[in-house]
Amino acid sequence: MKLKLKLLFLFLVLSLQKDTCVSGGRRPSDPSPPAPVRLDADLSAPVHRVDPRFLSVTIDASLASEERFMSLLSSSKIRTLASALSPGFMRFGGTRQDFMVFRPRRPLDPLQREGPGPGPGPGPGPGPGSCDEADLPWWLEERLKDDWRRQELVLMKEDLQRKYKRVHFTERTVDLLHSFTSCSGLDLVFGLNALLRTSDNSWNSSNALKLIQYCESRRYRTSWELGNEPNSFEKKAGIRVDGNQLGVDFSHLRRILSDSEFFRDAGLYGPDVGQPRDHHTDLLEGFLQSGAEAVNACTWHHYYVNGRDTSLDDFLDPDVLDTLALKTKQVLQTVQQVSPGKSVWLGETSSAYGGGALGLSDTFVAGFMWLDKLGLAARLGLDVVMRQVFIGSGSYHLVDNNLDPLPDYWLSVLYKRLVGPEVLNVQEVSGPDKRVRVYLHCTNKKSYRSGAVTLMSLNLSPTPATVSVPVLASSSVDAFVLESDQPGEDGLTSRSVKLNGDVLKMVDDKTLPDLRGRRLPPHQHLQLPGFSLAFFVHPDAGAAACR
Ligand SMILES: *[C@@H]1O[C@H](CO)[C@@H](O)[C@H](O)[C@H]1NC(C)=O
Repeated sequence: MKLKLKLLFLFLVLSLQKDTCVSGGRRPSDPSPPAPVRLDADLSAPVHRVDPRFLSVTIDASLASEERFMSLLSSSKIRTLASALSPGFMRFGGTRQDFMVFRPRRPLDPLQREGPGPGPGPGPGPGPGSCDEADLPWWLEERLKDDWRRQELVLMKEDLQRKYKRVHFTERTVDLLHSFTSCSGLDLVFGLNALLRTSDNSWNSSNALKLIQYCESRRYRTSWELGNEPNSFEKKAGIRVDGNQLGVDFSHLRRILSDSEFFRDAGLYGPDVGQPRDHHTDLLEGFLQSGAEAVNACTWHHYYVNGRDTSLDDFLDPDVLDTLALKTKQVLQTVQQVSPGKSVWLGETSSAYGGGALGLSDTFVAGFMWLDKLGLAARLGLDVVMRQVFIGSGSYHLVDNNLDPLPDYWLSVLYKRLVGPEVLNVQEVSGPDKRVRVYLHCTNKKSYRSGAVTLMSLNLSPTPATVSVPVLASSSVDAFVLESDQPGEDGLTSRSVKLNGDVLKMVDDKTLPDLRGRRLPPHQHLQLPGFSLAFFVHPDAGAAACR
């Protein structure tokens, strides 16, 4: 009898629960899964087309503060990692570029000026096998890595005191940079020193000319910049250079390049101003008035936060991520007014200035700022984004001081493989859910058939989310979902990342792991775990914009 009553009670409870389920009601204490974020996408035509080298990287000039550290670029591990980011630019520059002076060990043979071989062309480049021969002996690599950790403390002190020593470099720095970039399939951008000035405060080009002649004699294909964040020259060196003068200096450099048969069509980018703040746009405006003709693209720098004064919350804050849009619009407006049609690039950019935020800029959580920056910058019309830094300098690197890849490195490689240059319009129709952010591009045609599209999405909240894109619902999906290797909020500051559940690490110094997607059947809804970054490739989207 007792048992019967119990069963009856259980039955009643179950049927009541079933009832509530059917009617859709919930007890208030139930954690209700949020409604799907519904997206409307236009697959008919791209809204913008970025440079195929859109995702690019930098090496901070501080790596050359002692020339021997440049040998790290011969490490076969570093070259394997860099090759996976091709095509792209490798910009060599930063604060110390304006304190660097080329002092060749050998005088330049004047006959070499014309360069060997029959006139301009791709040049001989590295001979067969020479890329492998560059291998750095393991014991030297270990010693350099150890010494670099100490060197970083010295550099940090210099940065804090804003007292910069003059750095001399020889052919070796240039040779190593060139061999590293050309063997990795990256295009070198070399930042020249703009703080070498004459008595009338115009640029003294004599040292740059020596360097350009050396590169010409070796037929090193390079493009150029002149000066880093000129808006703070006064703070760094007590020298004030206004925008108009800087533009004149760039025109001077352009004339030098035009006089060279080898560098006649070389790229020149600038002025690498800091982000708009008070008077920075004045400098940009003055520069463009006198120098726009000289440059192929107008560059500016962007960081969301100060590395010494930021928090985990900033890295996940949609309002912080949105500040990029505001600054970008300001720069685009200035360029549009003075020099309409000029391409605009983020010439140096990362999460936090001042070398990054240790434990944030080098961990999984940095990926939210990085992927959002890539998505937003392309959507707003910027053509290239150069990530500070590939290796060395601070904690915003893609590859750590042991030369092992960090989560942002893997994110960058996936972006390279899956995302093409055509930007498509995608909009939330429901919501808005500020914690879910999405971007849509054509898929990289080297990886998938034409017509495919890639949806990039970020979930900034701990709660799983669902995204639905009705126009894509009939295509199967390859999902590439990145999550920390550890669950919950603690996982955000992990230095390891999982792709579809597997921790990513190199197979050996010359081999990256397979980065395979998980094939899903056509479905209305895409699942985004809490705190995740994802690429959803739709191979059968048949987008007209992507054919
Ligand atoms: C430019 O710099 C070089 C090397 O320091 C120096 O010899 C030359 O006199 C300078 N030229 C001017 C015009 O200041």
